[in-house]
Amino acid sequence: MSEVSKNLLKPVRLGPYTLANRVVMAPLTRRRAGSGNVPQAMNADYYAQRASAGLIISEASQVSPQGLGYPMTPGIHTPDQVEGWKQVTKAVADKGGRIFLQLWHVGRVSHPDLQEDGALPVAPSAIKPDGEAYTVDGHKPFVTPRALETGEIPGIVGQFRRAAENALMAGFDGVEIHAANGYLLDQFLRDNSNFRTDQYGGSRRNRMRLLREVTEAVSGVWGAERVGVRLSPINAYNDISDTDPDATFGFIARELGRLGLAYLHVVETDMTGKSGDLSYDRQMVRKKFGGTYIGNGGYDKDRAEEAIASGSADLVAFGAPYIANPDLVGRFAVGGPLNKADPETIYGGDEKGYTDYPALAPKAPESPRKPPKAEEPVQGMPLDI
Ligand code: PHB
Repeated sequence: MSEVSKNLLKPVRLGPYTLANRVVMAPLTRRRAGSGNVPQAMNADYYAQRASAGLIISEASQVSPQGLGYPMTPGIHTPDQVEGWKQVTKAVADKGGRIFLQLWHVGRVSHPDLQEDGALPVAPSAIKPDGEAYTVDGHKPFVTPRALETGEIPGIVGQFRRAAENALMAGFDGVEIHAANGYLLDQFLRDNSNFRTDQYGGSRRNRMRLLREVTEAVSGVWGAERVGVRLSPINAYNDISDTDPDATFGFIARELGRLGLAYLHVVETDMTGKSGDLSYDRQMVRKKFGGTYIGNGGYDKDRAEEAIASGSADLVAFGAPYIANPDLVGRFAVGGPLNKADPETIYGGDEKGYTDYPALAPKAPESPRKPPKAEEPVQGMPLDI
């Protein structure tokens, strides 16, 4: 394919795919799975409404019962969940969209109330994060997690591998490994949560070992060109930090860059404000990684256009704007206004505040005599040959 123009609404190659545009729907936890944490018809409608995004990354989906961190988030570890996801992937494909599943293990920020037999959540080290878990009975203080034994690590890698196999069966186009926002893989990466003395702790190479093993296992299922990784170098969400994020994430980006992945997806901001004046060096991380880079965190259309035109990002992921704007791409295309999300209906509940946000009304045809152009490509159609 010839060189495509560097505009937000122009096609872009991503692994084996040609995406219709560079707008990515970021993973958004909505806590609306059905019983058994099984995706349901309402979830398929929600994603199908958003299929004009160049790429959808699904909400984070736990790879095992142990990986669960909140009630009603979807899983990817049971046959029913695989069946439930099939409705979603079919609905998105029918609209010409592309969707990757985000693979998630929350590690220490789970709670015994959410674990089988009231077990302790697991973590690299037995360090209690500051803050509260969200359980079926509301917020409860985080507990001190149980440090994983070295011999349990292959089991964690196995959880991700099996989940990746399930995602393949469920009809996704690829998977994203969630190594951001203070969840299990990030707990290994950063040095305020990993005090291990085995080969999974200490040096940056050791702290990255679990992410590397998971990425290689998942790539063994999907091919690295259909696997992305998400990082959040300066995000303090879930009480996580690193004493030298530039060095840590520069190293990780370089190492991931050698694996031939579909992309690196970075949460460039801090969701908490607790990171103070730490700044994120996008150019450095992007250069060390060397492959396709998706930026995320507080972008609007203008900033996204600028990042792409200047070559500092290849695609941009929008989270919050996708809650209330199913047709975000269409709105960007015409410079239309954006709906505002209702904060009360972001997490949990039914169709209200989920699938009832309106798309812009289609423009009336210019002349009633003008016949519709049958050959015109549908927006969001995959362009791969
Ligand atoms: C959340 O549910 O608050 C949440 C989930 C996944 C993330 C970040 C936040 O990556």
